Amino acid sequence: MKKSITGFSKLSKRGKLRWIVENFFVDPENVMRELKSYWLQNEAQQKILDGFSENTISNYPLPYGVAPNFVINDKTYCVPMVIEESSVVAAASAAAKFWMTRGGFKAKVISTRKVGQVHFIWKGDFSKLQSKFPQLEKQLRKNAYPITQNMEKRGGGVVDIHLVDMSEHEKDYYQLKVTFETCDSMGANFINSVLEEFAKTLQNFIIQDTNFTDSEKDVMIVMSILSNYTPECLVRAWVECPVDKLGSFSNDIDAATFAHKFCKAIRIAHIDPHRAATHNKGIFNGVDAVVLATGNDFRAIEACGHTYAARDGQYRSLSYCKTEDGKFKFWMDIPLAIGTVGGLTTLHPIAKRSLELLDNPGAEELMMIIAATGLAQNFAAIRSLVTTGIQQGHMKMHLLNILNHLEATQDEVDLALEFFNNKAVSFTAVREFLNSQRPVDKKLSKAFVYKKT
Ligand code: MEV
Repeated sequence: MKKSITGFSKLSKRGKLRWIVENFFVDPENVMRELKSYWLQNEAQQKILDGFSENTISNYPLPYGVAPNFVINDKTYCVPMVIEESSVVAAASAAAKFWMTRGGFKAKVISTRKVGQVHFIWKGDFSKLQSKFPQLEKQLRKNAYPITQNMEKRGGGVVDIHLVDMSEHEKDYYQLKVTFETCDSMGANFINSVLEEFAKTLQNFIIQDTNFTDSEKDVMIVMSILSNYTPECLVRAWVECPVDKLGSFSNDIDAATFAHKFCKAIRIAHIDPHRAATHNKGIFNGVDAVVLATGNDFRAIEACGHTYAARDGQYRSLSYCKTEDGKFKFWMDIPLAIGTVGGLTTLHPIAKRSLELLDNPGAEELMMIIAATGLAQNFAAIRSLVTTGIQQGHMKMHLLNILNHLEATQDEVDLALEFFNNKAVSFTAVREFLNSQRPVDKKLSKAFVYKKT
């Protein structure tokens, strides 16, 4: 078995897969067959997927679900969600339905600005550079115009450029901090291209300007890159209704008690980072699923959301809740730098369908849809936690997954659902239950762990 190789990327896809199975698996032919079975039949479609990444040997399928009945700003959506975790889509759908009859979700985009930085080290006189900055800024904009002109035609481009003195944190360290408007695109390539052009212009400007001495001519560009922290690309989503219209809940919990417990749960997630992380994870269950389904970058969204959640120095809940004048109000502000044109949104065939399913929204509308889905997810999670507990819903899905693995018949599934209502579900318990229902020759052996494919 060889664990390393040179020239792997030069091998054909089949060659890569063969090398992998022969060197890392005990059952190469079976694994080869299995991984190949996930190649798409349609070669053109497969080529598109392979074009997104490198060294591809197979595809990794994830469930593509939908949560219907999402009323957001009085428009009804069926929200596409890509997620591997059970109960998430069901929870979003249940929350959507709950709020559908209580005014639906409301959302508004607060701002859509993105940020990029040129980080540089310079040993010159900062006040000189500051006084020259109006000229430098003109030059920066002029030289980047070939890159920015199209975006400007669409109403976007470079909004402002700031020269930032960071030398109190690190000797001789400065930044060009740039704000961008990228309209309906996420704009990562656009921002990075502009920043790299700015870096060149900055260097040349200092070299060519006679105000700077020879010892000041040397600018070290450390890096030019967008920031995934975009607190000014912000959307608010909220729901509200009179407390008494919340209805009643499992375990005999009335509306007022529910509202009180719910707000306390949100408050706890503001106070305690351990709870806040889990709380926000629940929000991202919804957010990431839509971000993925629409071909956006969920790592960027997560990085930004968590940074924002810690903006005052402590990691806290992204959502808020209060009851005031008999009204229950639940809301969330979340930064979402997403796009609906360019990148994967236009290339990935299913992402394109997701956008079509959502009536081809622009970036701002998609921001509102994603935020509402995150809020719905959070509502559903907290509702379960403060009423029945989270396991009730999870366990049903867990039970169904186990029954599926054990190839239970529909009759057995129905019996098991009844039997395990209010009982702990485990693989062994389900296997034993099925065995108690089956004749001797159909009993499952103890060695049966998961279905072999
Ligand atoms: C599980 O994926 C998400 C929850 O833990 C979120 C929460 O606790 O708020 C249910």
